[in-house]
Amino acid sequence: MGQISGSVVKRDHSTKFSGAAIYVGDYMESDILTGKILHSQKAHAKLIEVKVPELPAGYYYVDRRDVPGDNNVNIVKDDMPVFARETVEYIGEAIGMVCGPDESMVEHILSAIEVVYEDLPVVTDVLKSDTAFFDYTITKGDIDKAFKEADKVYEEVFETGFQDQTYLETQGMMAEPQAEGRVFLHGSLQCPYYVLNAVTRALGLPREKVHIAQDATGGGFGGKEDYPSILGCQVGVAAVATGHKVRCIFGRREDLEFTPKKHPSHNTYKVAVKDGRVTAMDVDVIFNGGAYTTLSAVVLQRGIICANGVYDVPNLHIRGRAIKTNTVPSGAYRGFGGPQTFVSVEMVMDHIARDLGIRPLEFKLKHLVKKGDSTSTSGKYHFDVPIVEMVEELDRICDYRKKREMYAKPQTGRYRRGIGLSMCFHGAGFTGSGERDFIKAVVRLKKSADGMVTILISNTDMGQGLRTIMPKIVAKELDLPLTQIIYEYPDTDFVPDSGPTVASRSTMVVGELLCQAAKRLRAEWQDGEEQMIEEHYKHPEFLIPFSLDDFKGDAYPTYSWLVNVIELEIDTYTGRPQVLGAYGCFDVGTPIDYNIVVGQMEGGFLQSIGYASMEYMTADKTGRIRNNSFSDYIIPTAMDVPNLKVILHTVEYPEGPYGAKGAGELPAVGAPGAYMEAVEQALESVDLHHIPFTAEDVLKSLEEAEKK
Ligand code: MTE
Ligand code: MOS
Repeated sequence: MGQISGSVVKRDHSTKFSGAAIYVGDYMESDILTGKILHSQKAHAKLIEVKVPELPAGYYYVDRRDVPGDNNVNIVKDDMPVFARETVEYIGEAIGMVCGPDESMVEHILSAIEVVYEDLPVVTDVLKSDTAFFDYTITKGDIDKAFKEADKVYEEVFETGFQDQTYLETQGMMAEPQAEGRVFLHGSLQCPYYVLNAVTRALGLPREKVHIAQDATGGGFGGKEDYPSILGCQVGVAAVATGHKVRCIFGRREDLEFTPKKHPSHNTYKVAVKDGRVTAMDVDVIFNGGAYTTLSAVVLQRGIICANGVYDVPNLHIRGRAIKTNTVPSGAYRGFGGPQTFVSVEMVMDHIARDLGIRPLEFKLKHLVKKGDSTSTSGKYHFDVPIVEMVEELDRICDYRKKREMYAKPQTGRYRRGIGLSMCFHGAGFTGSGERDFIKAVVRLKKSADGMVTILISNTDMGQGLRTIMPKIVAKELDLPLTQIIYEYPDTDFVPDSGPTVASRSTMVVGELLCQAAKRLRAEWQDGEEQMIEEHYKHPEFLIPFSLDDFKGDAYPTYSWLVNVIELEIDTYTGRPQVLGAYGCFDVGTPIDYNIVVGQMEGGFLQSIGYASMEYMTADKTGRIRNNSFSDYIIPTAMDVPNLKVILHTVEYPEGPYGAKGAGELPAVGAPGAYMEAVEQALESVDLHHIPFTAEDVLKSLEEAEKK
């Protein structure tokens, strides 16, 4: 760890603690109309009529007839309407919006609107849907031959559930008509230019007529990658139609029920083993995409690329489908498709090892990829794979091996213990050539005559610390005090498009561009002059070109790595698992700020434990999400995992700033494999196949074991 890693006080620390930071809910002007969405109460139906009562003066109802441009939200495939067309496809879909000065009056009008529906068949089960939004295949080697020659073939199905991002601040956007027909939108968001592209299209306006800014944002975790574009189009349409400022902020219930969450998955693994080695995997990945495509294509791509985990499997056939159902469109959640397949492959490897009578850790290490090996997409691991060292470092702090032996002895008391270990990676940046062909990041550094340097990028801080990380990089390159570097909340009128704040790309990709820009500014520095430096993304030259047509080539330039250990104790009377220790070793390259990176690891690790153990959310047969409050949807707090330890291991990435790789998502990818291995040990060799695995599930499996 170099000098850059030394921690500083987070830039936005004092404004957030003092309450001075301005969130979208903090604007106090008296001329802001409150907008509330008329949500569909049916998961699939024809819209026959919307009966709106007579509106008092100053109140408005807007719907698809008011969309001046294209009634489609630009995301990836653009099939999601701004306001519902002739049908509604999920419960919660926006039919229209009521706006007015008094919130309670708006609520009153909303409840007086009568929607006449004609029911259409509702599909909530991915296995019963006949619409695949996307269908991809990865192949490698010769799986037919490998299965023919196998000593043994295993087949198992794993299921994973929804997970909601549960950011502190719910979704919220505000639109303001401005002079000369311009429209200004701001709010809680990750990707200003995504919102810009969507809003210009829906409003039918040229780019110069619209600008988007980020307000202080209370967390995104992927949930504000696409939804602000949708809500942005809706308030944008309302502002243009009414001629007033319109703001819509979701309540927690609305947010939990109607905004995107992690794709539930159904993953079938067929694995061939010969001479104690996995020779082939035939994997069928099914993601529940929900009612519209939104981000499913890209989430699914990442999911299937991770399907063989960190293991060198010479023969692969991986098919992935995102299936349409009449539930809320699934979206991005920290990890972006990786958590679903990683838990599946970790569990299947564990089950096979136990069947073969080998310790799971030994079996996994035997298959571990190393530098130079080929990836699932026949790309290459170009850099060191530090997993072996990381396992040893973790073992030293938590005695994994010793405890694994100890808890393997028969346990008969009320409390039973188990310990498990998982290993995963996360590839930072867009999949394949996305950074080069689609994002094409541009950054600028502006130096004013008095020597202050302003960072001009569209990347956002949503808690992950970018407002501190980026100035640290620039200050170090320019050898200036941090106070001389300015980095404001981005507004598309002033910042170039350096891409969205997703895919853990900001530090590695945009931070590197800033580093290059700062190097040039330093070389060209002229006292007393105004200067502007611009840098454009350059694709790393060492990459094997990636093709999305056949999923071949380097999907990512490099990888961040983790090893997680979970130790727990199950109360066989109540079913409640208590996590005794959660230990994570993470390699994210050079940490640009030690405290920020450790904070990222701790938070993501806890989210990942929640995903494995308690965050249960489901839609019933009518398509309604039942877990729509924090009493029905339980997320972990520090109290649930008081003993959570993080250590960092550093393999520098030569093309990242100071050797940094992507950090943000990695910690949210890996805990379920370790958690489930621990649960299985405590419950003594029951083969479990789904997450979350809650206290209720523990009781059920104890009951079943008793029956046997
Ligand atoms: N950390 C906090 N505190 N809040 C967030 O919303 N989002 C995560 C992660 N860490 C998030 C977070 C997600 S989903 C991503 S993609 C990365 O941060 C994005 O940040 P980066 O590009 O700066 O790594
Ligand atoms: Mo993060 S899920 O890529 O916003």
